[in-house]
Amino acid sequence: MVGLGMIFDETYRPFFERVHRDGLYDRRFGDVDVPLSAVATRTGMRALAYQSESKGKIADFRNLAGADSVDKLLDAEPSFVCVATPDNRHFEPCKKVLAAGCHLLVEKPSVLKLQELDELVELARQQNVLAKVVYHKLLDPDHKKLRTFVADGLLKHVNNGYCSLLEPKQISSGQFAEWIKGRNPGTYVACHYIKLIDFTFGGKLKSVTAGGQRGLVGPAHGPTWDSTQMKLTYEYDDGREAAFDIHTSWVTPDNFPGYVEQEVQFRFDNGVWNGHSRKRGVECTIEGRTPFTTKITMNNHYNGTFVEPWGERAQRGYGVEVIERFVRELAQVEFGGPREQRDDRLAAAASLAYNDLAADRQVVAAVQALEAILAEAAQGRPDGVVRVNGEHGGLVLYRPGQSEPNVLYAPPV
Ligand SMILES: NC(=O)c1ccc[n+]([C@@H]2O[C@H](COP(=O)([O-])OP(=O)(O)OC[C@H]3O[C@@H](n4cnc5c(N)ncnc54)[C@H](O)[C@@H]3O)[C@@H](O)[C@H]2O)c1
Repeated sequence: MVGLGMIFDETYRPFFERVHRDGLYDRRFGDVDVPLSAVATRTGMRALAYQSESKGKIADFRNLAGADSVDKLLDAEPSFVCVATPDNRHFEPCKKVLAAGCHLLVEKPSVLKLQELDELVELARQQNVLAKVVYHKLLDPDHKKLRTFVADGLLKHVNNGYCSLLEPKQISSGQFAEWIKGRNPGTYVACHYIKLIDFTFGGKLKSVTAGGQRGLVGPAHGPTWDSTQMKLTYEYDDGREAAFDIHTSWVTPDNFPGYVEQEVQFRFDNGVWNGHSRKRGVECTIEGRTPFTTKITMNNHYNGTFVEPWGERAQRGYGVEVIERFVRELAQVEFGGPREQRDDRLAAAASLAYNDLAADRQVVAAVQALEAILAEAAQGRPDGVVRVNGEHGGLVLYRPGQSEPNVLYAPPV
């Protein structure tokens, strides 16, 4: 495990603890042990705290810290490595992991540039390993239902829609304070919805525009963004287009009734889908707790903690399921049949577009476009537009008043 922050605590930790206790079984690949063998972080402090509090829940793991922690982790020859470092620190550890011949699972956004994605996809191919990315919202039952209706032709041709994901202030002022300078909430969370749109509706990304607000997390004219709004345009095989607005923030007041606000609306030729991941039906007030330490509207589907009806305490939901699903895919590759058929099993696992890095191209393109547009805006040149696969290249930024296009990625996206 590289990076032991908030997402480790919410999804990886419950997975590794459960699998330590129960193992991982499937008739096709048998009984597989999945010990967390080593972790690499910046300072080693969180790993130290976790080591002392997790006694009995997990096997002993090596706590590696500092600039060469990933190299030391790879010396232990893990079968797979999960990378959950801050958004702009994925590429370097991912490259090392794949170059060492280990399977890779990286948090969203996989990487920030198509050039980086190309390098990782090529490395994975050369090394015959999996390179996958975590988009847990694709496993949210509501989003699965949306996709099922689209796949079954019940909802026909999406025309437009909006998504919003608003994070609390405590994220930007506390948890992420170490790495937030120069960053934006769009790259951090809009990518969830870019992937949902890309994966659910298909189509070809045509253009990206974006803007945002500053002044709370950093200076009003600096490079750090409080909130962003982006618009994606897609084109489908029949030549018709669709447009999607995605709004994000990490400065929502901490006394907001839910931990994050998450809402989508998609309009089709023959229908409308409204989804609200926070207001799914529960509203709870507890004196002295809500809405701070306990939220009023809670998401019990993501990684809820429960006392099961049979008395056991559990933490489960689609955030944990997505990690387990990757490990099952990997176990199937390595142990799901004769060694000489491993290549076929690897190809089958790599063909899954929901999590394979090779299928993340349009999402990375949209993130790269967002980053470039915001960087220009921070330099006093707002209102850029990025066009995809046009006359000047694969991903090209056009700025008002400047005749010279800025080619972000020359090959076709
Ligand atoms: N799937 C999701 O919905 C979801 C939710 C939250 C975060 N994330 C993603 O997970 C990643 C981590 O987010 P987080 O919320 O856990 O962040 P965090 O700031 O809480 O934790 C980051 C961790 O990375 C470590 N780290 C930082 N730089 C490092 C380096 N150079 N080498 C090794 N370790 C390093 C830190 O020590 C820390 O343990 C981000 O990319 C984020 O977008 C995903």
